[in-house]
Amino acid sequence: MTFRFSRLAFAGSLAALGLPALAQTEVKIAYALATDSHYGVAAQKFEEVVLTETGDQFTFNHFPSSGLGGEREVIEGLQIGTVEATIVSSGTLANFVPDTGVFDIPFLFRDLDHARAVLDGPIGQEILAKFHDVGLHGLAWGEQGFRHITNNRNPIETPADVEGLKIRTMENPVHLKAFNAMGAAPTPMAWPEVISALQQGVIDGQENPLSVIVSVRLDEVQDYLTLSGHVYSPAMLLVSRSFWDGLDDSQKAAFGKAAAEAVTAMRGYIDDVETNGVETLKERGMTVNALSNAEKARFQESISSAYDDYYDTYGRDLVDSIVTFE
Ligand code: PAF
Repeated sequence: MTFRFSRLAFAGSLAALGLPALAQTEVKIAYALATDSHYGVAAQKFEEVVLTETGDQFTFNHFPSSGLGGEREVIEGLQIGTVEATIVSSGTLANFVPDTGVFDIPFLFRDLDHARAVLDGPIGQEILAKFHDVGLHGLAWGEQGFRHITNNRNPIETPADVEGLKIRTMENPVHLKAFNAMGAAPTPMAWPEVISALQQGVIDGQENPLSVIVSVRLDEVQDYLTLSGHVYSPAMLLVSRSFWDGLDDSQKAAFGKAAAEAVTAMRGYIDDVETNGVETLKERGMTVNALSNAEKARFQESISSAYDDYYDTYGRDLVDSIVTFE
């Protein structure tokens, strides 16, 4: 018979017996944005709940603002066990679990409630569970909001306005396909390179949700904001599989509870910034326009060839079941 008694579980037992505690286990948590962003708020809540639930068994070290590199590098760090936890966008997730890319399809979700219901429901949870097979453990889906286009070239109202636009996309094949179909000149790029590429004019624009545009102060390097809402941007709270496997059941429950509360905090931040973010960006000097539903329909029409590929890759039934999910 094999006994698997982790160091973490052992620490819990010592505490229960009133014996001196082992050294605390460090949780390095890395994310691309600042501590006052939706990621930072969620990471703080995550830490707070884990500490409340487990006493002094863990100590957290935060690496905000891409302090441990781009999102792909951080996820690879989780796989080899050099980083314990992260909050990431869906940018590179499909490289680890290809099915994740279905949620990156433009114009898939009606609104935030629709996206949250799908991600928290059976379709989202089934895909989340697949991270367990690739050296990771998906704790929960978070979110960033709907992505919008910013640029320094011109206001955008029709697909013709993005013709040849040098726009940075995430390293995400689904997004890349859409911007190519639109006639833009997309460049996939890791986030840590984006601000200097905008400053140096290597790219004209980028696309991100209000949560990012406001918290990163993209208004300092971009003139125009078009509220295109062309795609929903999920996020994920992930831990390293080797770290997860070393937790005992009560610690796993604590991390699960902490992830759920972190997501509630993250979604609360998104609700606020979706309400107030545009006003903030106008006050900071951005020229803002919003696409009407008819204008959005023209953008959707312009990427119909990409949709053919999405149906081939993910299956029309799955895409339709997400679109019609109530
Ligand atoms: O655009 C991206 O790469 C992501 O949205 C960001 C800003 C790194 C947040 O995860």
